[in-house]
Amino acid sequence: MMTPMRYILLVLGMIISLHYIMSFSHEGYGNMTSITRLTEKLAKPNAEPPYRTPVPEDYYKPTGSPSSPDRKANATFVMLVRNSDLTGIMSSMRQLEDRFNRKFNYPYVFLNEQPFSDDFKKHITALTDAPVEFGLIPAEDWYQPDWIDEDRATKAREDMVRENVIYGGSVPYRNMCRFNSGFFYKQELLQKYKYYWRVEPDVKFFCDLDYDPFLVMQDEKKVYGFTVSLFEYPTTIPTLWNSVKEFINSNPTLVSPDNAMAFLSDDGGESYNRCHFWSNFEIGDLDFWRDVPYSKFFDFLDEKGGFYYERWGDAPVHSIGAALFARKDQIHFFNDIGYRHEPFQHCPQGDANSRGRCWCDPTQNFDYEWYSCLNKYDKLFS
Ligand SMILES: *[C@@H]1O[C@H](CO)[C@@H](O)[C@H](O)[C@H]1NC(C)=O
Ligand SMILES: *[C@@H]1O[C@H](CO)[C@@H](O)[C@H](O)[C@H]1NC(C)=O
Repeated sequence: MMTPMRYILLVLGMIISLHYIMSFSHEGYGNMTSITRLTEKLAKPNAEPPYRTPVPEDYYKPTGSPSSPDRKANATFVMLVRNSDLTGIMSSMRQLEDRFNRKFNYPYVFLNEQPFSDDFKKHITALTDAPVEFGLIPAEDWYQPDWIDEDRATKAREDMVRENVIYGGSVPYRNMCRFNSGFFYKQELLQKYKYYWRVEPDVKFFCDLDYDPFLVMQDEKKVYGFTVSLFEYPTTIPTLWNSVKEFINSNPTLVSPDNAMAFLSDDGGESYNRCHFWSNFEIGDLDFWRDVPYSKFFDFLDEKGGFYYERWGDAPVHSIGAALFARKDQIHFFNDIGYRHEPFQHCPQGDANSRGRCWCDPTQNFDYEWYSCLNKYDKLFS
């Protein structure tokens, strides 16, 4: 009879002998896996993703502490919504207030390509004591530009409808993706802020957030925070990666040392593995988007027309930008933020779950599902 222990020993033995056979027969293999290199890796102080170390205690605000904390970041919430989204955005905002902002009092900026109705403004301002501003997006930041070949764009949309690509036939959806990729951080009302937290209608926040994520971003010089990452639909981005490679080749100095290319590509940048951060939730640094590398990158992509000739999403565009132009340790997984946007959710596990008094079912957690990319993010730090 084979006891579990004997079985494990047998397998271990086989791996070790295989390793030795390989090391002798393949010089390159021996090189890569020599014991010294393995131990070097194990001994590296940061062999774990940074988020596994909990946020230090002094970032926490005890319940009942004054609603305006002593130290605040230069930050705002950003909600891109229509008047018809009122119920959905009230639901998101109510949870955000109850779980976090009641204590921290960060302002809100609402953006819309049409004027917000008085009714909308009345209901929204009633939900918070924090300042709220309502902005109208200039037409040139929103609508399909004149230089886009409409015949080509129409044909692309028709093809996508035939292939059942989600939002494949929608022009407004494309306008939104292009706006979120390259225009939201240029809006007048956001100029006075450095950090933002993007919030969409009908999302759920499961846990109390008793520390200020903006201060964590600021103190640790992070530029991009996420809660869910996953694979993009290939049919929406057939030529995106070729454009990215073209941009990198002509602007090699803009790419950050110690970047997160390994999150995007499994073969050193040759092909895109379609991993991206799910951008309906973002906590980020507006100045990072405004800075030269990402601005040049966005303009380059925009000129290719792929926002209309294909259906490039702001999620892959932001993710590729963050992964290439920031250091990998400047991209943060907000493990403490329990979040759901249909149909996926991140539910904090273990201590993070009880500390946040989360109401999500811990077994309903996307982190290491087969369609999630969190393991690739983790591997950046191993
Ligand atoms: C093994 O590593 C050494 C030093 O890092 C290098 O010079 C050599 O080319 C490597 N050999 C192979 C076969 O990869
Ligand atoms: C906040 O950040 C923006 C963008 O960096 C900057 O222009 C503004 O001066 C900052 N405000 C304060 C009070 O530091």
